[in-house]
Amino acid sequence: MTYIQQPAAGSRPVRLGLIGAGWIGAFHAESVALRIPHARLDAVADPALPAAKALAGKLGVARITADPADVINDPDIDGVLVASPARFHSGLIAAAARAGKDVFCEKPGGRTVEELDEALAAAEAAGVNVQFGFNRRFAADFAAARKLIDEGAVGTPQLLRSLTRDPGTAAGIAVPERIAPGTIFLETLIHDFDTLNWLNPGAVPLKVHAVADALVAPEAKAGGLLDTAVVTVTYSNGAIAVAEANFNALYGYDVRGEVFGSAGMVSAGGPRASNAVSYTAAGIASDTVRLNIDLFHDAYTAELARFVDGIAARRAGRAPGGKAVPGGVDARNALAVALAAIRSHETGLPVDVSAVAHLQAAEPELQLAGQHFTGQGA
Ligand SMILES: NC(=O)c1ccc[n+]([C@@H]2O[C@H](COP(=O)([O-])OP(=O)(O)OC[C@H]3O[C@@H](n4cnc5c(N)ncnc54)[C@H](O)[C@@H]3O)[C@@H](O)[C@H]2O)c1
Repeated sequence: MTYIQQPAAGSRPVRLGLIGAGWIGAFHAESVALRIPHARLDAVADPALPAAKALAGKLGVARITADPADVINDPDIDGVLVASPARFHSGLIAAAARAGKDVFCEKPGGRTVEELDEALAAAEAAGVNVQFGFNRRFAADFAAARKLIDEGAVGTPQLLRSLTRDPGTAAGIAVPERIAPGTIFLETLIHDFDTLNWLNPGAVPLKVHAVADALVAPEAKAGGLLDTAVVTVTYSNGAIAVAEANFNALYGYDVRGEVFGSAGMVSAGGPRASNAVSYTAAGIASDTVRLNIDLFHDAYTAELARFVDGIAARRAGRAPGGKAVPGGVDARNALAVALAAIRSHETGLPVDVSAVAHLQAAEPELQLAGQHFTGQGA
């Protein structure tokens, strides 16, 4: 699959610095170094220096530092990839923006709408782009689903579904006490909230009702663990959505989306590793994917390629192609739903998203066969 525009011969590659050399940071580093030809990973920062060293050594990256500021302030770096723990995201976005760097930041953009807004304001003031790591948008099947929705295959969206079942084992969650309270909403379901927002173009989430529990590791519930959740989201166009998550799917990593409407339905995703199916005396079987970096291998590359293309276009003086997508409005809308879900779980009541933040639609409303899209019964 070709994701990227090739640069003119001899043009300088886009130089990136990574902040956070953990699980996803290491994979992003590999994607840049091995799969995006006109980008180069020039520096790795991680307070855990051995992690930075190991990654940099493997990929031939010369600059290693324990201090993210060294990467942010390096004049040779064009863009920064933020893959640190979530509590540092908004501060790192703001610092990188002030240093004039475009930023790719993993989700969530912040832990509160206020801190994300500060980071986005810094980016706006500096005139840099911030793209967020909602990788599902770049998966071929999810992108195809969105295209079908734009073409009218669903008609007026009425019901939406998005689910995440993280891969697990019979032994259950390895160290449940390491999972911070709120993780299922802020770091897992936030992908589903973005997917639902994106598959319902132009609509704004209005009301959220969450039910959650620790069903996989009930012994960790007192410490704040939630490993299973269902969240309903109602939208400004009347559509009703359900997002659900569980941290321990024994059969693999299962991510799915579905939109049902007045004209039909589209769906995307699933845990199958390929279309190969065996039919034997034991029954019908197919292999499943176990890791996010396998299920979304190409999507992770594609999102970074898009980030790199934006920097290359700007540097070449070409139109930067508008704001980064998924950008600040998308990150804010998904975060607001996640925070409303936390509040709903805590109170047991539905929560108006407007109590968390005033949201704007990230995109224009869906136009169907030249008609204005008005929601229920349209
Ligand atoms: N988009 C996706 O599918 C996806 C998948 C996994 C993780 N994530 C997100 O990426 C982020 C990182 O997750 P992870 O699983 O890689 O975590 P991780 O714990 O494996 O890695 C985090 C790394 O950041 C380093 N770090 C700690 N403090 C730092 C700081 N102040 N500055 C820079 N680095 C610092 C840690 O030493 C560690 O190496 C989280 O926000 C998570 O939600 C996204």
